[in-house]
Amino acid sequence: MIVANNRELLRETVQAWRNAQLKIGFVPTMGNLHAGHLALVKEAQQHCDKVIVSIFVNPTQFGPSEDFDRYPRTEQQDCQLLKACHTDLVYLPTELELYPTGRTTKTQILPAYADILCGIHRPGHFSGVAQVVIKLFNLVQPDVAVFGQKDYQQLTMLRQMTQELNFPIEIIAAPTVREEDGLALSSRNQYLTKQQREVAPCLYQTLTDVRDRLLSAKLNFATVIEEASNLLEEKGFKVEYLELRDSTDLSIVSSAQKEVTLLVAAYLGKTRLIDNLSFTLNNEI
Ligand code: PAF
Repeated sequence: MIVANNRELLRETVQAWRNAQLKIGFVPTMGNLHAGHLALVKEAQQHCDKVIVSIFVNPTQFGPSEDFDRYPRTEQQDCQLLKACHTDLVYLPTELELYPTGRTTKTQILPAYADILCGIHRPGHFSGVAQVVIKLFNLVQPDVAVFGQKDYQQLTMLRQMTQELNFPIEIIAAPTVREEDGLALSSRNQYLTKQQREVAPCLYQTLTDVRDRLLSAKLNFATVIEEASNLLEEKGFKVEYLELRDSTDLSIVSSAQKEVTLLVAAYLGKTRLIDNLSFTLNNEI
């Protein structure tokens, strides 16, 4: 595995692969890798000849009171995991390389979908994600980029952005990897106390319960969601949102027979968890 600490080695390697007509896949990450990230690498490997993973904890997507400083940094362990699953190149940029003129750029990026769901509760977050992904796309110039469905709003926003900005990059979504009890894998799960970890799977359980109730009977969807949200609060979650949205454009669902996604964000103590579940709605709501 090539370890590129700078863009020169990255570009040189990518150029050589391009000259050899190889298809290049890219998995951007913030490190602290778990099985969910490795599944993204495996997905990329199925579509590409060479796979590049970047590790960079991007400061511009964290709010001032968020966990940027304590976000787990485990670069050595990450590199070992990536090597073991046959990643071809890991790119470890410095902040100066990605933000050569400083964090506050004069080019404003206001991506679509930034003012709903997580965007309401994390102002500036999607702008920061879009900014760093554009930079990484420009530096890596992959044919394919893989993102997890776990961050459903991020995935939707990045698909739109890639299309709008004419990046010649195919975006591929990889399914969420879960613990046996249903909890979606996330680097933030390690912040949970033992007791919070026991409660955490209720989040996914709630999504499947709401789906099953909506599919089994002609119920008022707002009522079902409100009840589910109250139940989560009773279990100790502080719910930011639990919403049913159109799977393609995240618009509010208004008619039957739709591909929909149920999205949730909730705090357990100081830890913010998100999850989602997509399904086809087959009855009037
Ligand atoms: O999903 C993430 O880990 C990050 O938001 C990403 C896409 C690597 C950008 O920093």
